[in-house]
Amino acid sequence: MDVNLESERLRLRKVSLTDVSENYVKWMNDQEVNQYMETRFRQQTISEIMQYVTSLLENPNILFLAIIIQETNSHIGNIKLEISPHHQRGEISLWIGDNTLWGKGLATEAVDLLKEYAFKVLGLYKLTSGCYSCNKASEKLFLKSGFHQEAVLKNHYICGNIRTDRLCFACYGSDG
Ligand SMILES: CC(C)(COP(=O)(O)OP(=O)(O)OC[C@H]1O[C@@H](n2cnc3c(N)ncnc32)[C@H](O)[C@@H]1OP(=O)(O)O)[C@@H](O)C(=O)NCCC(=O)NCCS
Repeated sequence: MDVNLESERLRLRKVSLTDVSENYVKWMNDQEVNQYMETRFRQQTISEIMQYVTSLLENPNILFLAIIIQETNSHIGNIKLEISPHHQRGEISLWIGDNTLWGKGLATEAVDLLKEYAFKVLGLYKLTSGCYSCNKASEKLFLKSGFHQEAVLKNHYICGNIRTDRLCFACYGSDG
């Protein structure tokens, strides 16, 4: 199914293999971008990213969307919804690769769009997400997008040689 979601500044549409650009590879290997991402443990190459993108596109329970700035038609990051159909639940994760665009509310706009689609069109009951407790931008973003902290997984990750908690966020279609 084709998906095209639009907000004031953004468009979300399916990721395509042509999105796997030099910039995409650079972002995945950028230590500021990947510091809280599991991909950071090995150098990412274009062919590995292509394989990863292909596997997500082939998975019927994953909605893998490119975040596009409408005005310039530029691809700045990705947002993923991993659906558990039997539980009517979806897990959201995302990144924005160009750090000069951080702090402008773009991720919040992307999450809001996907959230509305997940509840109103897909009919999901619950959305979840999570982040390292030291990832303050992510924590703020999910709280701003109407998620609440539902659980803390203690000492879940190692980040920069320090044991770090995972914050688990959730929101419900019935939250309104
Ligand atoms: C997390 C991420 C998606 C947020 O994107 P963004 O477009 O900057 O998010 P928004 O601007 O919508 O909101 C982020 C909020 O966090 C704040 N913030 C950003 N960096 C921060 C920091 N280091 N400490 C505290 N707050 C921070 C922003 O000011 C903003 O809050 P505000 O609206 O009250 O000013 C982006 O930083 C990113 O892609 N990071 C790298 C990948 C990543 O960590 N992904 C998430 C994995 S769970």
